Amino acid sequence: MSRILSAVAWPYANGPRHIGHVAGFGVPSDVFSRYMRMAGHDVLMVSGTDEHGTPILVQADKEGTTARELADRANRVIVDELAALGCSYDLFTRTTTANHYAVAQELFRQLHANGYMVARTTRGAISPSTGRTLPDRYIEGTCPICGYTEARGDQCDNCGNQLDPTELIDPHSRINGETPRFVDTEHFFLDLPALAEALGEWLDGREAAGTWRPNVIRFSRNILQDIKPRAMTRDIDWGIPVPLEGWADNPNKRLYVWFDAVIGYLSASIEWARRLGEPERWREWWNDPEARSYYFMGKDNITFHSQIWPAELLGYAGRGERGGEPGGYGELNLPTEVVSSEFLTMEGKQFSSSRGVVIYLRDVLARYQVDALRYFICAAGPESSDSDFTWREFVTRTNSELVAGWGNLVSRTASMIAKSFGEIPAAGELTEADEALLATVREGFTTVGGLIERHRQRQAVAEAMRVVGEVNRYVSDTAPFKLKADDERSRLATVLHVLAQAVWDCNTLLAPFLPHSSNTVHRVLGGDGEFMPMPQVVEVEDLDDGHAYPVITGEYSTTPAWASTPVPVGARVERPTPVFTKLDESVVETELARLRPDDGSAAGA
Ligand code: MF3
Ligand code: ZN
Repeated sequence: MSRILSAVAWPYANGPRHIGHVAGFGVPSDVFSRYMRMAGHDVLMVSGTDEHGTPILVQADKEGTTARELADRANRVIVDELAALGCSYDLFTRTTTANHYAVAQELFRQLHANGYMVARTTRGAISPSTGRTLPDRYIEGTCPICGYTEARGDQCDNCGNQLDPTELIDPHSRINGETPRFVDTEHFFLDLPALAEALGEWLDGREAAGTWRPNVIRFSRNILQDIKPRAMTRDIDWGIPVPLEGWADNPNKRLYVWFDAVIGYLSASIEWARRLGEPERWREWWNDPEARSYYFMGKDNITFHSQIWPAELLGYAGRGERGGEPGGYGELNLPTEVVSSEFLTMEGKQFSSSRGVVIYLRDVLARYQVDALRYFICAAGPESSDSDFTWREFVTRTNSELVAGWGNLVSRTASMIAKSFGEIPAAGELTEADEALLATVREGFTTVGGLIERHRQRQAVAEAMRVVGEVNRYVSDTAPFKLKADDERSRLATVLHVLAQAVWDCNTLLAPFLPHSSNTVHRVLGGDGEFMPMPQVVEVEDLDDGHAYPVITGEYSTTPAWASTPVPVGARVERPTPVFTKLDESVVETELARLRPDDGSAAGA
């Protein structure tokens, strides 16, 4: 049994999630966390909405609202969506809590005290017409890296590179088009070069462990080559105040959003412990070197998790060239694994809310079964190369794999049992074929579990479905529907018992991927209560400032074991209704029509 921190990327609170987001971080992290709990580990799964920074401000401007209002609204939407997807967070919170502010400021202060935050004068923009600071987000120009003409002063949305406003070609104000004047402005830079050696040693250890995806470790090594100090403060009026004299009450200087967002993993763990009434409990996942941590994200987030966050942790602990000592949180664990996925495209195109190339999570959840979406993502998601979502493949996989493969097996099994016995029969003597099937299913726990542990969920779910196929073959081979004679009744009981046991165990094998339907299957076979615990949305008050907000949390201690368990002999079984809904072929056309730009329903918030 180990302590496992499941650290899931924090979605920006700038609107609803699309399925590309949840394919990257949402479903994979939940499958992993559910499996690890089943395997007996002590999992702490945390995340929240990422509410500072430019994207939220830009969106708020566009909607004519304030960042705070937009974040409040988006946070609620995202909480509901992720809970509906079944994401089993111990705590899904937000970055605008007083707790998070305090934790982020504590890290900044210690990094500063240890000498890793160095003040530097750089060039910042002001508006010539008003003389006021022009925040980075209000400057637009051509990206010096990819040539995109609408790059922002802080970042290019086309190539994803972080930019400095002075690097933009032909910079101009988004407010009135004027060319900004660049003047001296002071910022704090994280001295990454002073932490490079320590980062390298940590990466050496991670590489030696051999568990990271090759492209993630390669990328992380590459960016270590030309490591430079990076600004961790911004000329912006939305964010966490810089906790130093002369800075704290300057309304135009704030901590950089990425500096604070990654600290969310720690602050959410602390908030979780405080809400539990055991305020030091988070330390078991953060201070004990035996605890492991897994960070889930899309590939555009790798830099921040394999360089910035570990550097913050190393500097906080005084483990770089400049020395220093740990702050009050002590020596904090660095990531065990950065589990990054690639990108999901849709019908061959990149997701883009503005161009209407988007499928919102809430729309899919309103129209289809949540586990049909989870299944698609597990079976065909962008795990280690980009992958494409098409409605055609969604319909095909749902109908041929979920409905015809798994759902049908459950229904046939329950129908035959209901008809012949009305309850799960006890087995008589087992034949070799019976034993062989049960052994195949039992082996599934080793193979499927091993694959999930190595973050190979596509292969894991395929393996579980291969086992389901073996069970379907057993039905054809033993043909229980033909065992009608009186003297065949005891053989019929044995076959249906073996079948029920196999289906029962397949349900356990599929439960991390398909938690909602695992509860249905469990009841179909006479089980009672909830098999896989589900997350809950709870309205809470900020621990320090009284602001109300919703969190996702849950009680997952009843999670079933990752093992074959005996099917309940004697439990009542009735004729079931189908577990999965077969999709009409017309779904493909209907959904493709929704994507066409001339169709108003495709436009999102
Ligand atoms: N909000 C970022 C994104 O959507 C992810 C932040 S992950 C965090 O790309 F850990 F830094 F919060
Ligand atoms: Zn670019």
